[in-house]
Amino acid sequence: MPSRPMRAATALALVLMAGAGLASDLPRPLSDTDFLHDGAPGAVMVDLGRHLFFDPILSGNRNIACGTCHDPARGTGDGMALGFGEGGVGTGPDRTSGTGVTGRVPRNAQPLYNIGAREYRTMFHDGRLEPDPEGTFPSGFWSPARETLPDGLDSLLAAQAMFPVLSPVEMAGVTGTNPVATAVAEDRAADAWSHLADRLRGIPAYAAAFVAAFDDIDAPGDIRFVHAANALAAFQTVAFRSDRSPFDGALRAGDLAWLGPEAARGGRLFYGKAGCADCHAGPLLTDHEFHAIAVPQIGPGKGHGADTTYFAASGFSERLEDEGRFRVTFDPEDLFRFRTPSLRNVALTGPWGHSGAFDELGAMVRHHLDAVVSLDGYEAPPLPPVARVITRRGDGSTLLFRPLAPARQAAFAARDGHVQASPHLRGRIAEAAEIAPVDLTETELGDLLAFLDTLTDPTARDRSALIPRRLPSGLAPQPAPPRLRAR
Ligand code: HEC
Ligand code: HEC
Repeated sequence: MPSRPMRAATALALVLMAGAGLASDLPRPLSDTDFLHDGAPGAVMVDLGRHLFFDPILSGNRNIACGTCHDPARGTGDGMALGFGEGGVGTGPDRTSGTGVTGRVPRNAQPLYNIGAREYRTMFHDGRLEPDPEGTFPSGFWSPARETLPDGLDSLLAAQAMFPVLSPVEMAGVTGTNPVATAVAEDRAADAWSHLADRLRGIPAYAAAFVAAFDDIDAPGDIRFVHAANALAAFQTVAFRSDRSPFDGALRAGDLAWLGPEAARGGRLFYGKAGCADCHAGPLLTDHEFHAIAVPQIGPGKGHGADTTYFAASGFSERLEDEGRFRVTFDPEDLFRFRTPSLRNVALTGPWGHSGAFDELGAMVRHHLDAVVSLDGYEAPPLPPVARVITRRGDGSTLLFRPLAPARQAAFAARDGHVQASPHLRGRIAEAAEIAPVDLTETELGDLLAFLDTLTDPTARDRSALIPRRLPSGLAPQPAPPRLRAR
């Protein structure tokens, strides 16, 4: 906490800098206290979280890790618009539907840079996990798990880590293939978490690490999945902190000129006439609010309700449009709103948008300039085929892992493009849009992109050194550590 006289001095400095131009509009630079644990959680806990993050042991069928979708060499994403989760094989854009998947992951994997910053008020594209100061639930968080989410979670980020392991398409798998998946399918989340905690308890090196990392663990029997979640949060806070970009230099200097003429012009547009900072504000370049900017919807959507009228057109009887924040609040104002993403390292985090609809950063920015026109003219880049799927045999008791028949493959492809192909559904997205068109010349757009490039922290380009070479579980880390990777 700065003392009173110091605060007064800062205020005076701001007044003086305002005279020099834009400096007063620039956010303040990040510092340790902006992060959980003041940026320095205990080393033992961080190391434990690091192993867990890359260990497929946390997935029902032991075949996918957090790191598979949040690859530290790929902008902490998977390089795909919409990835393949459990059942998929390979990493990055070459990942395939492998031995069989139920479908695509319906949203773009979010980047994790600076995710340990205290200013985060919600998690996920739709913010469906958020603190609950009223204490309605024992966990202290609003979430899809409601009263089932246990207490003992250190932070919002720790609470987030309770969820990927419950998602059938991401980590848990299909019911019947493993006890975690079956517990999830039967709405027994607590059992799914305790099953995973049992697994960790049974591995001596993990058990010892938990005992060493947590004061409230005296013996392996005390390990709960919330401890794993707390360790994962500690690791992510340290591992993905990223505040060494040229932009950070400019923040410390309080002057965009620091970035060189082209990017400085772009920065002035960003904080000025282009209006970007209306939403991409603060040191992380997000207001943490939800806005509808008509990003096209590709992929299967979030299954927001059954609706048989979709069957004739798409061969599926659930709704395919992803209504974003609306599905959390049920406030019509929130239709098709998504959380403003942080733009830190944005040049590394493509494809962009909640559905990964844009595979070029320039196209993503251009979309903002006239969102509805862009939506109407949008053509989706091809998605990798869903080639092998898991289906149930007639009586439902036997699972089949098999190639998708060509006719069915066409139906899957039609589903991926259905919302964009439907004038009615596209019209709903357009109608919700709240972003005003902006006129920029091509030169100005180039300047703006040059500015976005200065948000790249060179140390973020490849953090694959984070991946452990060996794991306590004896499973192969995902993704593979650098020297084992094929070139
Ligand atoms: C199959 C891919 C996949 C796996 C595996 C996965 N994630 Fe994610 N992650 C995603 C996607 C997709 C989202 C966005 C989901 C949404 O908005 O509905 C996301 C969102 C997040 C967020 C929220 C970020 C934000 O800005 O709000 C965090 C944190 C995160 N994941 C951490 C983890 C951790 C920790 C694990 C392992 C326990 C994990 N993820 C496993 C794909 C994955
Ligand atoms: C009205 C608020 C708003 C304004 C103004 C705005 N954005 Fe965005 N921006 C968003 C939201 C919300 C998203 C995510 C939309 C989605 O995924 O559906 C986004 C996404 C992005 C992305 C993709 C990031 C990612 O990780 O996928 C980039 C790049 C971007 N904006 C840059 C800009 C630039 C440059 C400007 C100024 C020309 C700008 N934005 C103006 C709200 C805004």
